[in-house]
Amino acid sequence: MSPSTLAASTAAHASSPHCARLCTRADLVAHSGVVAWHAGHQIAIFYLPARPDAADSRSRQPEDTADRSRQPEDAAGDCLYAVDNRDPFSGANVIGRGIIGELQGERVIASPLYKQHFRLRDGVCLEDPEQRLQTWPVALRGDDVVLLEARADI
Ligand code: FES
Repeated sequence: MSPSTLAASTAAHASSPHCARLCTRADLVAHSGVVAWHAGHQIAIFYLPARPDAADSRSRQPEDTADRSRQPEDAAGDCLYAVDNRDPFSGANVIGRGIIGELQGERVIASPLYKQHFRLRDGVCLEDPEQRLQTWPVALRGDDVVLLEARADI
């Protein structure tokens, strides 16, 4: 499925001038990417909703905190990742069309062009760690997908 490129939004999030709304929850596509503009950047946003059994498994394994702490998972168990849409190998804005997967125990996005895998949590390329995608901290706030601590220079 090809992602839509969402309109730029410069509106600050309601409760802070440092947070910016990238899109709405309704714009997200589960297990896939959408692309939003922010301050001249194309940001690919990937949404992995909580598994139906996630809350149950969390309550059964309360000691398993180290691994979960690496994932940007909210209280409901949903995961959101935001990375640069530009593929550093091809220079094309295609990362939002990539396929989400898991490699070496990490959630990754595979470039649709040359198939390199980038870790979603920090953007590092598994095949060539010298290359990485810029990442952004994002979160769901009500119906908004919010870029946290948005700066004017990014
Ligand atoms: S003010 Fe709402 S997320 Fe920062």
